[in-house]
Amino acid sequence: MDEKVTWWAFDEVESFMRSGFEAIGVPSEEAAVCADVLVSADKRGVDSHGVGRFKPIYLDRIWAGTQKPATEFEIVRETPTTAVIDGHNGMGHYIARRAMQMAVDKAEKNGLGMTVVRNSTHYGAAFYYSRMAVERGMIGFTGTSARPSIAPTWGVEPMLGTNPLTWGMPSDEDFPFMLDCATSTTQRGKIELYDRLGKDLPDGWVIGQDGEYRHDTHQVLVDLTKDKAALTPLGGLGEAFSGYKGYGYSMVCEILSSALSQANFMKALIGVDAAGKPSSIELGHFFMAMKVEAFVELDTFKKQVGEICRQLRASKKAPGATRIYTPGEKEHEVWLYRKDKGVPFNDPLKASFTAVKEKLGLKADLPF
Ligand SMILES: NC(=O)c1ccc[n+]([C@@H]2O[C@H](COP(=O)([O-])OP(=O)(O)OC[C@H]3O[C@@H](n4cnc5c(N)ncnc54)[C@H](O)[C@@H]3O)[C@@H](O)[C@H]2O)c1
Repeated sequence: MDEKVTWWAFDEVESFMRSGFEAIGVPSEEAAVCADVLVSADKRGVDSHGVGRFKPIYLDRIWAGTQKPATEFEIVRETPTTAVIDGHNGMGHYIARRAMQMAVDKAEKNGLGMTVVRNSTHYGAAFYYSRMAVERGMIGFTGTSARPSIAPTWGVEPMLGTNPLTWGMPSDEDFPFMLDCATSTTQRGKIELYDRLGKDLPDGWVIGQDGEYRHDTHQVLVDLTKDKAALTPLGGLGEAFSGYKGYGYSMVCEILSSALSQANFMKALIGVDAAGKPSSIELGHFFMAMKVEAFVELDTFKKQVGEICRQLRASKKAPGATRIYTPGEKEHEVWLYRKDKGVPFNDPLKASFTAVKEKLGLKADLPF
């Protein structure tokens, strides 16, 4: 999967995006958060949700008038442990960061904190928010609804989003436990990568109207937006590999993200109006923080989490396998590899940033 890339230092990419966001009207405090969330994804190798989405998701939606550049963060209901927030179609990263901060602050005082959000927008890679809790000695849990793309088990119509359920837990290792993934077998970002590389999709990722696997990557990207193709839930097609479990977990995420906050759900998130024009996609999210010391000493907890990870990694390997990983480990290794190099820019990403620089008249130099 190697592409020819130019490496660009993280702080410079972040600063470029911050000035880009500011240039289209995002207040500087919000621009800083949005740029930080995006570059944080690339630091861990979550390139599908990193700086590659700066233009195509965030800037383009603001330019199209379907997302507001300045956020009104309204707390509509609050208790000592909970809150409901209305994001008024503002900047999803900023709304999510503030909502998780509230959950963490509530957990600090009361042991547990949970906030839910309606009318937010795409919040990016979910680990960022769970990690905020981990950094304060807490378990962090978050999820978000997303544009419908997964078909339910035995269905072919995209109904549920790729709906990540993301858990972060402190451990005594160099990196926390971090399970950060969609409830679909794959997600659009990975299909886009296959498209750029000119590769056919493997079995298992996408189904067509006939319920059979699709492999024609480029056309799949078009058809996913027209209800003619759908992603499979985690576990795959039918019941043989328990696709109904991924389908069920995706529903859990949809319900927690929308029913408590009274956010829009499923087909209301399609992002196209009756006339076929792009419209806003106002999502729901949820954030939970659990203070470990309300249950047990933090070091004791961390040691046990680390021990569970170590025992799993040391367990007997399958023939031909050299390693067993635990969640969060691969991303930590990407960080160790990238920390002095920065973000890898391939040709489409270079073109996207060059277009932004020209359109917004940004002064910063690009390294390509
Ligand atoms: N905002 C949204 O709407 C949205 C929707 C879906 C996904 N996402 C984000 O997309 C990103 C990628 O999601 P994904 O579903 O493609 O993730 P993925 O399939 O790459 O899985 C990543 C997770 O699996 C773990 N992992 C990978 N290999 C492992 C192994 N061999 N053993 C143990 N653990 C292993 C990783 O540590 C990580 O926690 C995430 O950051 C997610 O939050 C966002």
